[in-house]
Amino acid sequence: MIVYKILKKFLKFILFPFVFMDRIRWLSDWFFFKKCSSPPPHFVKQSLLLRHGINNSVWVETGTFLGQTTKFLSEHFNFVHSIEPSRKCLRVAKRNLRFSKNVALYEGTSELCFEKICSSLTGDICFWLDGHYSDGITFKGITDTPILFELDTIKKYLGNFSNTVILIDDIRSSHIDKENYPPLSFYVNWADSVGMDWIIELDSFIIKSKGLTFY
Ligand SMILES: C[S@@+](CC[C@H](N)C(=O)[O-])C[C@H]1O[C@@H](n2cnc3c(N)ncnc32)[C@H](O)[C@@H]1O
Repeated sequence: MIVYKILKKFLKFILFPFVFMDRIRWLSDWFFFKKCSSPPPHFVKQSLLLRHGINNSVWVETGTFLGQTTKFLSEHFNFVHSIEPSRKCLRVAKRNLRFSKNVALYEGTSELCFEKICSSLTGDICFWLDGHYSDGITFKGITDTPILFELDTIKKYLGNFSNTVILIDDIRSSHIDKENYPPLSFYVNWADSVGMDWIIELDSFIIKSKGLTFY
């Protein structure tokens, strides 16, 4: 474990110029060609999670995919619960997360695993709600997104948490795929109904307990 940590630090140092140049390339591509349209580059999304996440909190991620964000969150926060129904995705994620000791992976849909996790949590909790069908090896269930079920469940257990942050990803889908995704007004009404504040940044709808800062 110590050897792994030293090796990781060393590799990070060596690879830094390449990673830096790669990010500059992604950013300029996003700025000049995509005109900052959604979705932003992955590392930009990660900054959003870092800025809005509560220090020392526990995260619940729906849709592990290959475990990239799971790994990022585990490096910056106390613990990550992550749910993934696609066997193929989970196999890769398990490999990518083999050294991350503060991660629990759940094989199954949100509909199956989310409530059990929520009911076991207390303290400061952050949610990265990103479980949905997105082509390729990702899972397609009866509905493309379990977001309504997830928000219903959070509402049920909200009283057990101290402070809560909820980030809902890919909200452009509310415009692009009206058949499968709720309208943005649904999220606004949900936040109002539980007395939480909200904001939209990049491609995410962000809901926070009152008193937590946005800027
Ligand atoms: C956009 S990817 C997630 C990306 C990942 N959270 C990240 O930040 O790198 C969406 C994932 O949600 C998964 N998914 C699909 N339906 C789901 C459901 N009902 N419950 C949980 N996850 C689901 C898909 O298999 C896919 O891997």
